[in-house]
Amino acid sequence: MVCRPFGHYSLCVWAESTRLPRRANRINQVGISKRTVLEIVLKRTSCVTLPQSIFKTQRPRVSKPKLYSTHVLFEEPRRKLAEHFDVEYWAGEERPTRPEVLKRVVGKDALICLLTEKVDAELLDAAGPNLRIVANVAVGFDNIDVPACTARKVAVTNTPGVLDETTADFAWTLLMAVARRLIEGDRMARSGAWTKWNLDQLCGTDVWGKTLGIIGLGRIGRAVARRAAGFRMRIIYNSRTRAAAEIEKELNAEYVSQDEVFEQADFLSLHVPLNVETRGLVGPAELAKMKPTAFLINTTRGPVVQEAALIDALERGLIAGAALDVFEREPLIPDGLRRDNVVLAPHLGSASVETRTKMALIAVENAIALFAGKRPATILNPEALR
Ligand code: DGY
Repeated sequence: MVCRPFGHYSLCVWAESTRLPRRANRINQVGISKRTVLEIVLKRTSCVTLPQSIFKTQRPRVSKPKLYSTHVLFEEPRRKLAEHFDVEYWAGEERPTRPEVLKRVVGKDALICLLTEKVDAELLDAAGPNLRIVANVAVGFDNIDVPACTARKVAVTNTPGVLDETTADFAWTLLMAVARRLIEGDRMARSGAWTKWNLDQLCGTDVWGKTLGIIGLGRIGRAVARRAAGFRMRIIYNSRTRAAAEIEKELNAEYVSQDEVFEQADFLSLHVPLNVETRGLVGPAELAKMKPTAFLINTTRGPVVQEAALIDALERGLIAGAALDVFEREPLIPDGLRRDNVVLAPHLGSASVETRTKMALIAVENAIALFAGKRPATILNPEALR
């Protein structure tokens, strides 16, 4: 991909792919007329300089801050960004490589990135002294070295709040799927292997009336707990900070020790952020405490669970199964987890169009606020504000 500035606009068009329709769509997401898109695609160029006339509104030549976004985002956030920044997008089908990101951030004033990009001292040095904000399109920010950003007076923001319900829905999707063997059933039905109904065919386990254990009763943990009421479940939890009495009452949740959550839960759902305290939180000792009939659900971050220990526990029948949306080294999924009693998902917790759009909007609004001299709404390191 090559990028050439034209006036104060610059537009990068990723044009390695030869699949025309998808490629045309991708390019069109940056708001060019269909005709121009086709011209670009037919020329098979990877470098595009576009005349001012293709933009709907002619703008005066004022210099805007330069922003690199490692994703094309969605239409609404993109429109907002265009009003305030000279934007360069990564529009490839795959995630940009590390060298690509290091190259593109050079001289930028702002960076919008996903959890797949590691923002560390190397990247910050590559970006240079102009960089003022890293807006992560995720609530988790374990991909960002926040102290390194603070030391360089770079603001860091994330997207809390908007994805709680969507992620809680997905934790329940996984819980139900593993309990009722949905994936095995789908496979059987789809493949034609289903030849007759049978009394003991793919019998799973009941969810209603069981004990739901939650580790981490933050916003997402609470949203998961709230959904358990309809299943008439007992709810036990452990969290770094005990919830207020009104919250416990509202959720009908009982505070117990972490060991008791492992020992008593029929379904154990993890909702802690990944940090030095929670990395490897679920290891051999914790898994050994679980009931052989219990299921582990993980929608937070892969490294919270020691994957090797989980595989061992599954092989030895120490637990009944697991449902996992996140993995230690995404997108790698160890073969030991590819089992019938494990439901696997490719990190989809917040993946609804509505929620992902809201997340992108928060990142965009944070960047806009900073350059308008305001405090970004979800800043993680206010001490970095210049
Ligand atoms: C997050 O926001 O941290 C999720 O993992 C992706 O939505």
